Amino acid sequence: MTMTTMNPPQTDDLSGAGYLRIENLSKMFGVFAALKSISLEIREGEFVCFLGPSGCGKTTLLRAIAGLDIQTNGSIFQAGRDISRLPPSERDFGIVFQSYALFPNLTVSKNIAYGLESRRMPRAAIAARVMELLQLVGLPDSGEKYPSQLSGGQQQRVALARALATSPGLLLLDEPLSALDARVRVHLRHEIKHLQRRLGITTIMVTHDQEEALTMADRIVVMNHGVIEQVGTATEIYRDPASAFVADFIGTMNFLPGVVTRPGRVAFGGVELDCAGGVNGFAAGTPVTIAVRPEDVSIRNIDGSKSNSFAAQILEMEFLGSFYRGTLIAAGTPADAAGETLTADFSINAVRDLGLADGMSLSIAFPPDCIRVFERQ
Ligand SMILES: Nc1ncnc2c1ncn2[C@@H]1O[C@H](COP(=O)(O)OP(=O)(O)O)[C@@H](O)[C@H]1O
Ligand SMILES: [Mg+2]
Repeated sequence: MTMTTMNPPQTDDLSGAGYLRIENLSKMFGVFAALKSISLEIREGEFVCFLGPSGCGKTTLLRAIAGLDIQTNGSIFQAGRDISRLPPSERDFGIVFQSYALFPNLTVSKNIAYGLESRRMPRAAIAARVMELLQLVGLPDSGEKYPSQLSGGQQQRVALARALATSPGLLLLDEPLSALDARVRVHLRHEIKHLQRRLGITTIMVTHDQEEALTMADRIVVMNHGVIEQVGTATEIYRDPASAFVADFIGTMNFLPGVVTRPGRVAFGGVELDCAGGVNGFAAGTPVTIAVRPEDVSIRNIDGSKSNSFAAQILEMEFLGSFYRGTLIAAGTPADAAGETLTADFSINAVRDLGLADGMSLSIAFPPDCIRVFERQ
């Protein structure tokens, strides 16, 4: 036994961290900056979603990772290898686009085998691998069909099988579910997620659909105007948005005007609110935006003397099946923030127990740990 059979130590070994490392990546289209100094690390086996509004740079970033569109500045490392300037053919990824992009004149099997044949793999080995992939994506009997004979969801499964054929180290998905109808989309979400878990393949999925990102991703990268606004798990991003943009983009959020009074306290009209999460470092006297989720507005056991509470009136209630969404208006004098409207979600139980109805006056409270404070827009 000699030491020469061992793999040399990886110079860039980050002990599992940073399978894909992006450093200060920028992309210019003429004078327009589509990506502005993006830095990001993705761990091996992670499922990451790039989430953001249309035009924020998600596809541009994905295409840079694939080498389909080389960045203007910055570096990309995959498994410790600098791939920044390599053509796609020398990188190690499989990709699925929104449009199925299958070859219409080739059978499903031939579509899946495409990347294997160009690698000059033996015929029998290709046939076995194709069968394995067809089973993996739940289409064991569709090998001889043509793409036009399949539904949109089935075509996307074939595209997925084709992307996985060469067992790449990285799976890139650009809005793979966006062209499908709602039921198929939800179903395929689960399938892709389970498949990714089973294979343990590092995956990046681009989406503008927050529900897709929240349900599928281990970590979400929220993007806006070519920058990363926040990176975190679904819970972190929902519970602790780093900016007003993230707070607004993910879920529903009330934004109300406030003024910082002292450390940990912000005035909403005449009511001084205790913010357990702090006031984001703003000095006393700073006008800010107070953010509270509709489901965090509490209405039970509030007697008016309770801190963080104030009087409000229900303008209107909307029945949404499993809960009610109320539009409320703060009551009292103008100094008490009267006239500010906000949204509050009420459980069916609360509506029944408290007899909530349009026009009703009540006391509501913002729990201290549910208040976030952002710069006034
Ligand atoms: N080839 C291109 N030439 C010029 N502008 C482009 C090109 N590709 C993308 N852009 C612009 O870059 C921005 C980001 O695009 P893109 O990454 O496709 O957004 P997303 O995928 O987040 O919707 C958009 O404003 C888009 O118009
Ligand atoms: Mg896109």
